Amino acid sequence: MQLPNHNRLAVRHGFPTVSVAAMPPALTALLAQLMALLAIGLAAAMVPLLGQGQLPGQMQWALLQGMLAAAIGHWLGMARWWLPINLMFVPAAVAALAMDLSPFWFLGAFLLLALVYGKIYRTQVPLYLSSRAAVAAVASLLPQQRNFSFIDLGSGCGGLLQQLNKVRPDGIYQGIEAAPLPFLLSRLRSAFGVAGWRVSWGDFWRLDLARYDVVYAYLSPVPMAVLWRKARKEMRPGSILISNSFVVPGIEPEVTLKLDDFGGSTLYLWRL
Ligand SMILES: C[S@@+](CC[C@H](N)C(=O)[O-])C[C@H]1O[C@@H](n2cnc3c(N)ncnc32)[C@H](O)[C@@H]1O
Repeated sequence: MQLPNHNRLAVRHGFPTVSVAAMPPALTALLAQLMALLAIGLAAAMVPLLGQGQLPGQMQWALLQGMLAAAIGHWLGMARWWLPINLMFVPAAVAALAMDLSPFWFLGAFLLLALVYGKIYRTQVPLYLSSRAAVAAVASLLPQQRNFSFIDLGSGCGGLLQQLNKVRPDGIYQGIEAAPLPFLLSRLRSAFGVAGWRVSWGDFWRLDLARYDVVYAYLSPVPMAVLWRKARKEMRPGSILISNSFVVPGIEPEVTLKLDDFGGSTLYLWRL
């Protein structure tokens, strides 16, 4: 399923139009890094020609590059949370090189991130977990009838399902997760814990939501509009969609619950 593009950009301000509308954010970030590297590379080549005085060191150039990359990323319309990534990418690489670490550390870190986050470059949904307050609030929104079916789209490590199953064991709880390590963890949890919930491996965009009375999503702003279209198309009348933290643009929720948790999150409920 095609996700909506969040790099829609109209670069105006009198500059030639640059269209990065079709680019995933990771590529836009790469573009920002390359543009900043080019500019700083040129500056580094020219500064010695301009005169004497003390020349900036490697780390100073790297920090300048980071600041420029962050500014370019912002100019290219990237979300705010890319700012520190763009800022620190090259300085962190320079610092890591200075430490003279074995390349296996980098390979190990890359593999670990890939196992925890899966295809985040495509889904644009990182792993973070529902709080206890969210679990309690979701439990209060569950249908009264027994044997209702519940799906957690992107169930992470399965914590929400496990907790809900404890509070309301009369429901049928299912999760679907695409990232390898969280999926494995939740599989082990469901195999060795109390029965009553299960998790499958896969992409929730391929799942038919018609089977569920309650669909829960704790994702990111990126997929919400597409998720709403999918829910409208597939979910049965009377079933409910609950989103933790992220609204469906332009669609007023039936219920809004402000949570007293660390992130100050909010639950939104829409009835189909
Ligand atoms: C923010 S976490 C939420 C975890 C869990 N639902 C919770 O509330 O604690 C989102 C999860 O969705 C998973 N995810 C993102 N896109 C997915 C997709 N298309 N199919 C399956 N899982 C996906 C991510 O790997 C991540 O683990």
